[in-house]
Amino acid sequence: MQQTEAMVTAFSDGASSRGSASGSDRASGSFATSGVIGAGTMGIGIAYVLALSGADVHLVEPDQDQAGRAREAIVARVHKASARADADARLSRVAERINWISAPVELPVGLDVIIEAVPEQLELKHSVLSLAETRQPGLLGTNTSGISIGALAERLHRPDRLVGLHFFNPVWAMRLLEVVRSSATSDDVLDRARSLAEQLGKEAITVADHPGFATSRLGVMLGLEAIRMLEDGVASATDIDKAMELGYRHPMGPLRLTDLVGLDVRLAIAGNLQQAYGDRFRPPQLLLDKVAAGELGQKSGQGFYSWQ
Ligand SMILES: NC(=O)c1ccc[n+]([C@@H]2O[C@H](COP(=O)([O-])OP(=O)(O)OC[C@H]3O[C@@H](n4cnc5c(N)ncnc54)[C@H](O)[C@@H]3O)[C@@H](O)[C@H]2O)c1
Repeated sequence: MQQTEAMVTAFSDGASSRGSASGSDRASGSFATSGVIGAGTMGIGIAYVLALSGADVHLVEPDQDQAGRAREAIVARVHKASARADADARLSRVAERINWISAPVELPVGLDVIIEAVPEQLELKHSVLSLAETRQPGLLGTNTSGISIGALAERLHRPDRLVGLHFFNPVWAMRLLEVVRSSATSDDVLDRARSLAEQLGKEAITVADHPGFATSRLGVMLGLEAIRMLEDGVASATDIDKAMELGYRHPMGPLRLTDLVGLDVRLAIAGNLQQAYGDRFRPPQLLLDKVAAGELGQKSGQGFYSWQ
């Protein structure tokens, strides 16, 4: 126990001092080595932007079928981005920068940053973050959409080291990084999170640790209400989305966005927000039914729209 404490206390105090990179195509910022836990929708995107920024990435995915799909998704993304006239020269090295592993314990000790992107389940995140902490990263981030960072930090030896790094889907296209600070998060960790955002070409906002932060609390509420409107027969999915797109200048309607995020992901977030804020975040029956039927949105081929 004491040994673990000492190990964790020995966390780096300067991410820049641990970067071993050299050469012009290596990471331009302080984050030269990284780990991402979970290669689902978000982990794929986070690994991609880290690799594109020049960092070496250790990507953890225990499900071998999913690892295969994730690999294909990254290669497809590289091809698509390479076809652009202003393609980034570093694209050619993205795939080779990613080292695929199947468990968090295989992550090397002393990476500049580890970000967890496993499903939105408190116990799962606790166990993954505890494992990640033993690998002594310079920065430890969670991509949770709605769980309190303070609650996630509770079982860590150094709660001051955890910060919310909330990326958006698709990570390569969305410029926002919501940096969430718990009451324990240190100023130093917050600074490092902002410098990671800069390296990745993201715009960081800093948000206090209230469930749902600044984004999910509003975005999920809009999505749930749109589903209730569909249940009530107010309009078709397409017309509800058009109402927001054409009437309020949202780039995408709330139902299509729910399909892209994943209905299961949104359901899990709504459940957590319901616990925090009560019934205004109660998941609509239609959402429960669709998730139970395996209609998870784009990733399963069917959600509020057909993606076949
Ligand atoms: N989907 C979105 O649009 C979105 C946006 C922002 C944040 N988030 C948050 O990001 C996190 C991940 O969401 P997602 O949509 O990528 O989920 P996902 O279900 O697509 O992917 C999660 C991945 O984690 C893997 N996994 C499960 N247990 C694991 C373990 N013990 N170790 C390593 N990997 C494990 C799964 O096999 C899966 O591939 C969630 O907290 C979610 O709330 C999601």
